[in-house]
Amino acid sequence: MDTLDQLVHQAAADFAAAADSAQLEQAKARYLGKSGSLTERLKGLGKLDPEARKSAGAEINRAKEAIEGALEARRVALREAALLAQLAAEALDVTLPGRGNAGGGLHPTSRTLERIEKLFRSIGFVVADGPEIETDWHNFTALNTPENHPARSMHDTFYLEGHDDVLLRTHTSPVQIRSMLAHVARHAELETMPEIRVICPGRVYRVDSDATHSPMFHQVEGLWVGENVSFADLKGVIADFLRKFFETDDLQVRFRPSFFPFTEPSAEIDVAFMSGALKGRWLEIAGCGMVHPNVLRFGGIDPERYTGFAFGMGPDRLTMLRYGVNDLRLFFDGDLRFLSQFR
Ligand code: FA5
Ligand code: MG
Repeated sequence: MDTLDQLVHQAAADFAAAADSAQLEQAKARYLGKSGSLTERLKGLGKLDPEARKSAGAEINRAKEAIEGALEARRVALREAALLAQLAAEALDVTLPGRGNAGGGLHPTSRTLERIEKLFRSIGFVVADGPEIETDWHNFTALNTPENHPARSMHDTFYLEGHDDVLLRTHTSPVQIRSMLAHVARHAELETMPEIRVICPGRVYRVDSDATHSPMFHQVEGLWVGENVSFADLKGVIADFLRKFFETDDLQVRFRPSFFPFTEPSAEIDVAFMSGALKGRWLEIAGCGMVHPNVLRFGGIDPERYTGFAFGMGPDRLTMLRYGVNDLRLFFDGDLRFLSQFR
C-alpha cells in the first residue's frame, strides 16, 4: 500500500499537471472527494485501536494539509496564468496616438442659407418663416391659383391623409401671403404702409426626384413691396446678389420669360456652371416676377397704390453651382465622405 508520503507526492504531481481549474477540481476529487484516496484512509481509522488511531489520524491530517496546500498553490498559479493570458490577448498600446475629435461642420446648404441671409440683410431685408405643413389656401388659392387651376398640377403635391385642405408646402411662396397679412395688420393705423422687404428660407416638398430635383429641398422666398417697386429693381437686386454670392463679376445669368399664376410678368433665372463636369451648362436657380394684383389683394394690400416683386430661389441649386456638384441628391444622402469636404 502507498505510503502517505507517496500519496502527497502523487497529488502534488496531479495538481501540477492540471491545465485549468476544471481539471484541477477533478484531481482534487480523486484525493479529497467523498471516495477520494485520502478520504478512504480517514474512513479506515475506525478499524484501528485507540492508540494507533491517534497517531495514524495525526499523520493523515498532516498529509491532508499538505495536499490542500498544494491544491491552493495550484489554484493561485492557474488564476495568475489565466490573468496573464487575458492581459496578453487584450493588449492595449497606450503609446498609440488618440483617435482625435472629428471636427463637425455646417451642411453645405446651411452655409448657403447663411450666406443668402447675410447678403439680403445687408440691403435691408428681414428674415421671416412660415409652417412647412401649410393650408391649401396659403399655398395655392391666395397665390392666385384657385382650385382646378391647371397650374396646381405644375407641383406634385404631398397631401395629408384625410385632410384635403392641408399639405406639405410645395414652395415658400405662401410666406408671401403670411408676411403681407401680418405686415398690414401691424401697420393698420398708418397713412402709408412701410415697405415690405422679407426673405423666407425653408424646406419645401414635392413628389419629385432626379439629379436636380429632390422630394425635400430648400427655397428662399423674397418679397419687396412698396410704392415704386419695379421689374428693374428685381433685376438689380438679383444680379447684385448673385455677383456677391458667387464672388465674381462675370457671371453668366439669364432671365427667361416664364409663367407663374402669382406674378405678372414672370421669369425664371438661370446661371451657368463655372466649374466641374457641367461647366457651361445652364441651371435654373429661381422663379420671379412682379407680384400679381390679385395676390396683393389677398395679402390685404391695394394694388392700385403698391407694387412689388417676388422671387423663389433654390439654395440647393446655388450650392451645386458654387461647388460644381452635379447631383443634388448627394446633399441629402448623409454620406460623410461627401459632406466632410465642405468643412
Ligand atoms: C416656384 O416654386 C415659385 N414659387 C417661385 C417663385 C416665387 C416665382 C415668387 C415667382 C415669384 P419653381 O417651381 O420654379 O418655382 O421653383 C423655384 C426654384 O426652386 C427652382 O428654380 C429651383 O431652383 C428650385 N427647385 C424647384 N424644384 C426643385 C427640386 N425638386 N429640387 C431642388 N430644387 C428645386
Ligand atoms: Mg421653375
